[in-house]
Amino acid sequence: MLVLGISGSPRRNGNTEILLDEALKSAGEAGADTEKVILQKMKFSPCIACGSCDNTGICVLKDDMQELYEKIIAADALIVSTPIYFYNVSACLKAAIDRAQALWARRYYLKEPLLLKDKPGYLISVGATKGKRLFKGTILTIRYYYNAAGYVLADQLLVRGVDNKGDINKHPEYLKAAAEIGRLAAQGK
Ligand SMILES: Cc1cc2nc3c(=O)[nH]c(=O)nc-3n(C[C@H](O)[C@H](O)[C@H](O)COP(=O)(O)O)c2cc1C
Repeated sequence: MLVLGISGSPRRNGNTEILLDEALKSAGEAGADTEKVILQKMKFSPCIACGSCDNTGICVLKDDMQELYEKIIAADALIVSTPIYFYNVSACLKAAIDRAQALWARRYYLKEPLLLKDKPGYLISVGATKGKRLFKGTILTIRYYYNAAGYVLADQLLVRGVDNKGDINKHPEYLKAAAEIGRLAAQGK
């Protein structure tokens, strides 16, 4: 069982990365192999809509995303974490999501068995404010990202009202909830 975590925050060791670490630690304790990818450290371009992947399933942009495609396909469960930026995911995560168009083509045009899956995916997100609709855009975006990549959104941890770096540590209940996400991911639930 391989649980892949993708950290979508440009702020290293911030609130969402702390929760992701907690989830991966707990997945490891539950017996899964784990791997963490930090988008902020990767070099990749946004999708250029060239259309090549429609026919080949392969992205023409030869950058760090090529390796991430393979990791997403190889993993059995995926946990994505992102801060809320203007009511959606961070820009680096959105760029990575748009690059999943190549995976979408492999699933829907080329019908590759490797992508025709519904593996469990999880979302961890934190925003500073407390509005009812704070996570609406993010949930929709992540649902369709997961669908393109062969996953379904199985569970989510959505935290309102936490802003300053590391303040999530003042909330043991959220750390516990992140650990529970990791446990579920390790069980493929
Ligand atoms: C560019 C930017 C945009 C943001 N937009 C929102 C927003 O629309 N709503 C909100 O509640 N918080 C917003 N925030 C606050 C972050 O979501 C919050 O600080 C979060 O805890 C950051 O998580 P991180 O430490 O994992 O990066 C924004 C922060 C930044 C830097």
